[in-house]
Amino acid sequence: MSLPATAADYRALARRRLPRFLFDYLDGGAGDERTLAANVDDFAGIRIRQRVLVDASRVDTGAVLLGESCALPLALAPVGLAGMMARRGEARAARVAEAIGVPFTLSTVGICPLAEVAAARGAPFWFQIYMLRDRGAVEAILDAAWAVGCRTLVFTVDLPLPGPRHRDTRNGLGAAGLKARLLRVAQVLARPRWIRDVALRGRPLRFGCLEAQVPGARSLDAFKAWVDTQFDPGVTWRDIAWLRARWRGKILLKGILDADDARAAVDAGVEGVVVSNHGGRQLDSVASGIRALPKIVAAVGDATEILVDGGVRSGTDLFKALALGARGALVGRPWIWALAGAGETGLRDWLDTLQCELRLTMTLAGVTRTADIDVSHLDSD
Ligand code: FNR
Repeated sequence: MSLPATAADYRALARRRLPRFLFDYLDGGAGDERTLAANVDDFAGIRIRQRVLVDASRVDTGAVLLGESCALPLALAPVGLAGMMARRGEARAARVAEAIGVPFTLSTVGICPLAEVAAARGAPFWFQIYMLRDRGAVEAILDAAWAVGCRTLVFTVDLPLPGPRHRDTRNGLGAAGLKARLLRVAQVLARPRWIRDVALRGRPLRFGCLEAQVPGARSLDAFKAWVDTQFDPGVTWRDIAWLRARWRGKILLKGILDADDARAAVDAGVEGVVVSNHGGRQLDSVASGIRALPKIVAAVGDATEILVDGGVRSGTDLFKALALGARGALVGRPWIWALAGAGETGLRDWLDTLQCELRLTMTLAGVTRTADIDVSHLDSD
């Protein structure tokens, strides 16, 4: 037996607790998972320049993200179905994030409704939405998010259609046939603790933010069927203009990988972009976020706030993201691994570890403020 220390350790715990199809849904990526692997590998390939005997008695890991003072240059990314992987996962993670001092982003396809997350957390949280075919539904959801105090909208633009996730196909996820159902039942029965903790104690398992849009839906399948009709590959920059006129708060466009798209985002008047490939879950063979970051920083770094995600697993990774020009980073899978694997304590401990790692990295790189971290702190040899 050993205690968890790293994101990989929490991943191993989550793997033991979750039914196979859920773990794979969380863990997997699109296609051959090349981009998924690159997200992590590209961070590993960056080296930091060590400096010694620089006064680092006052290292401050704090940062300002979208006008909010945060303890770390980090936000929890929107993750759909989080409440299927950890009991009332969104509300509990939102609470931990507040205690640590980082933003939490609720996904439109999360399990906990807006009001439950708002009640769990005193501070405002971020809300993520996709463009849906039913624009009336989008307006109603935006109004509901505004009403509970959300002021930062993460608008995800890299999911005109869902990516091909082969692990999900193999596990029969979303398939209706008897064989697929038996497979899922067998995987669930192998995890009695998850049945007790999440499937029973964690009810209701619905898409909480969509209840008003899909009245009468009782099962996740019914919600999913509605969501499947709502993907809209016809969305363009005109819709972003519509959104800009509609949302009075801040907008972060998530899923930007190209400098021209980043320029268009600035022209559309959004406050920031998230350089992201959706955790390697959409188009396999696109660049990792960290690799795409420098050219986006070069294109629009002076004009907008740039966050990055995909593969951030440690405080050292956070440092690298900042060194390459990001204001901060989002983490997706690790917060679910920690919460599903070891509950709120696990998530708190992992975020504490991340902060210690960032502090240590800043100390040994000879920089005391996150705003001062730049490319000169990387080893270019
Ligand atoms: C996601 N992501 C995501 N993004 C989004 O905008 N809305 C969503 O509902 C979801 N749902 C979702 C579910 C699962 C299971 C995963 C793993 C990811 C993408 C997420 O916000 C983020 O971009 C990536 O997870 C970042 O990569 P890492 O940190 O997981 O490597």
